[in-house]
Parts: sequence; structure tokens; C-alpha cells
Amino acid sequence: MVDVPKDLIDEIKKLEEHFTVDTAKLKEITEHFINELTKGLSVEGGSIPMNPTWCMAMPTGEEQGTFLALDMGGTNLRVCEIILTDQKSEFDIIQSKYRMPEELKTGDADELWEYVADCLQQFVEAHHPGENLDKMHLGFTFSYPATQDYIDHGVLQRWTKGFDISGVEGENVVPMFEAAIARRGVPIKLTALINDTTGTLIASAYTDTKMKIGCIFGTGCNAAYFENTGSIPKLAHMKLPPDTPMAINCEWGAFDNEHKVLPRTPYDIIIDKDSPRPGQQAFEKMIAGLYLGELFRLVLVNLHDNEGVHIFEGQNIDKLRKAYTLDSSFLSLVEEDPFENLSETADLFQNKLSISPNRSELELIRRLAELIGTRAARLSACGVAAIAKKKGYESCHVGADGSVFNKYPHFKQRGAQALREILDWPEKKNQKEEDPIEILAAEDGSGVGAALIAALTLQRVKDGNM
Ligand code: GLC
Repeated sequence: MVDVPKDLIDEIKKLEEHFTVDTAKLKEITEHFINELTKGLSVEGGSIPMNPTWCMAMPTGEEQGTFLALDMGGTNLRVCEIILTDQKSEFDIIQSKYRMPEELKTGDADELWEYVADCLQQFVEAHHPGENLDKMHLGFTFSYPATQDYIDHGVLQRWTKGFDISGVEGENVVPMFEAAIARRGVPIKLTALINDTTGTLIASAYTDTKMKIGCIFGTGCNAAYFENTGSIPKLAHMKLPPDTPMAINCEWGAFDNEHKVLPRTPYDIIIDKDSPRPGQQAFEKMIAGLYLGELFRLVLVNLHDNEGVHIFEGQNIDKLRKAYTLDSSFLSLVEEDPFENLSETADLFQNKLSISPNRSELELIRRLAELIGTRAARLSACGVAAIAKKKGYESCHVGADGSVFNKYPHFKQRGAQALREILDWPEKKNQKEEDPIEILAAEDGSGVGAALIAALTLQRVKDGNM
């Protein structure tokens, strides 16, 4: 322990003021969130898209068959073959992961679809060499906001998560994808286009009937849950029976794009301004893994250049000046480092950034990571609480997936604590006691979930329903 100089203590206090979201604010955000969920379902719409997904049933656990799943997330591309077995709620899976080349994310549409088709072809040839396959049914997890008129259709509303591929926004992505695989003669039929949140919800519900909400806290952040079509005025023209279930992909990353309630700091404003899509995904930019490291970096650069304390004084911080040079796994490591000596943090700064922080600076770095990680977890809880309150769920499970949920230290506990504050639950008597609403690690949504939704779609067609 050293005595942290007073000006550094003052700086930490300022950061705490910027990044702390108290219970009253959490409650205010949640109430506004509930209104926005409802608005998004209306004919006029709101800032959250609330996209109907045409996934219209929960699984029973009895689904069967062999399916392909393609997952185009933010970082990797994954191809899976899933066998839903005749044992209730059991499946087998084989999969291959391919890294999405960075330049593809800002390239053009043809390159994207060629790459996707290549990966699929490789997978099919590796696992079914020389086989004369009938068309395999594929669930395509396309985790971006899409307007769907039916389940194998999806017009990309806008790219999110830093993607910026020209020629796709405003277009139906299914024919583009189909044309690329047809050119290669790969025998695949796209049966369902799904979002990762819907996949997460369905995959989790396959093994746990208490599941009501599916969430992703990863590169991006979003959730899905079921509404009856009677509560979706913007679908009234479809004249479906009002009690027809319909999974809604909220696209809640767009919550508060009009900046009415979220406590944005000057750093959040910079992140937005410098992103490929300023003015969009306000909520996501404060929570998702893609942005946590960047927030942290922006604060440190500002404390070096502008604030009275001038951290890392006299050191060359050029490496730290490079945008998006730190990802959320960097913050995770800082938060995991035992506070007594913070030697891992010192090594990280030395090796990655060629900066040698002194002990007081290390303490500030640690506190900053905690503040950013805690804010993300607490704000996420507002979305979960809003859906639960809107739907009147007093007790349920929420299935969550994504790198931040699974790997960021304390994210789960911090989110659970925030839910407790928002929903006014009494303190637990012991640690083993379950909260009324628990956010749990989900089953693999973009693999098993995509297969299940494809299976449910085939079943619906067979039953003669739309
Ligand atoms: C972004 C996407 C959304 C996805 C989420 C998590 O918010 O727009 O579709 O569900 O990231 O991957």
C-alpha cells in the first residue's frame, strides 16, 4: 500500500461520480425502458426496433433431426452440425470456428458472402466428403437488426458492432447468401434466419422450462422474449389470432438513442462520435464488450493529456493513443489481478503499451476498470428488469451468453445486485437462496438454438401453419 496523492484521489472521485449509477437512476432508466419496449411494438415505432422474428413457439424438448447452423457474430464465424436426438432435450454437435478477417467487416458485400460460403463449403466437404447429401436445413444466426416478413427473410436495418459493409443495409440478406452457396453447388437450404438472442432463448428453454428471456452480453448487447401477437399492434395487419406467440428481438442496444435518460459521460460521447454509426446504439455503446476497453483507454489518455494529475508523466503513450487497441479481456485481466501488488496489471501495461505505471496509477487503473465494468453490468440489469416488469414475470430464468457475461469478472454478481435494487427484493438470507429472477449461463444459442428454430419452422410448415 502506498499513500495515493491527493490530486489522484480527487481524480478517482471524479471518475466515480461519472461512472456510478445509483439505485434511483437504475429505476428511472428501467421505467423509461418499459415505455420504449411498448413503443417499439406500436405502429408508429420507437427507438428500439422490437423486431418480430417469426419464431413462434417454445421448444418441447422432443424436436429431432440433423441441422446445420451458421453463426456470423461479431468476432468469429462458426459452422455447426447439430443432431437433435430422440432423447428429450439432448443433442450432439460438431463445429468449426473461423476468424472473421478484420478487413471483411468494412469491405463489400460480395467479399462477405464469398467468405461465408467458403467456410460452409469447407465444413460440408470435411464432414461429409463425397456424400450425396439431400439439401441440409440450415439455421443462419445473423446477429444484426433485421426486418423479417417471414422467417427465411431479413432486411438488414443497419450494421452494428463496428461493421460497415457496403451494399447490405436495406437489402434482404437471404438471397445474397443463397446465391453465394448456389455458385458453389453446396446442398443447403436456409430454413430460418435468426438473431443470437432468439437462439439463446430457445436453446435455453430446450433444457429449462423457466427460461423466459434470452440475452447476449458480448461484443454487442441485446435481448429477446415472447409477446402474444395481440400485444404487437404493428403486426395487427397480419390478422393472426391474438394469442399467437411471437419471439421479439428487442435490439435494445438502440435504447435511448435520443439521450433522454442514460447518464452519458464525455467519454461515451466521444465513442459515439468516432464510431461508424454515430447516434446509434447508445445503450450498447455503454455496455458491450466492443466498447469497454475503448472507454477505459479514452479516460486514461484524457488523464495523461488534460487533467491536472497528468498520469504516466514523461512517458511515451503513443501505443495507448491507438483507438480500440484494448479489448474487454484487457479490463478483465486488470480486474482479476490481486490488489495487493497489481503486478499483472503492471506487466500488461509494460508489454502491451510500453508504459510503466507507478503504484498510485495502478490503483487508479484498477478502480477505473471496476467502475466501467460495474456500470455495464448495472445498466444491463435495467433491460432485464424492464422486460420482466412489462411482462409481469415475478419469477423466471434469463439465459445469457457472450464474452462479457461469461468471462468478465463479477459481471454476473453486479448485474444480480442491480436487479435486486431495481426490483426491491429483500436481501438474501444465504448465498444458496435463488433470486426470483436469475440470469444464468445459456445453452449455445447460435448453434443449438438455430437448429431448434429450424426444426420448429419445419414442424410449423408440416402442420400447415404459416
Ligand atoms: C448487436 C446486434 C444484435 C445482437 C447483439 C449481440 O446489438 O445489433 O442483433 O443481438 O449485438 O450480438
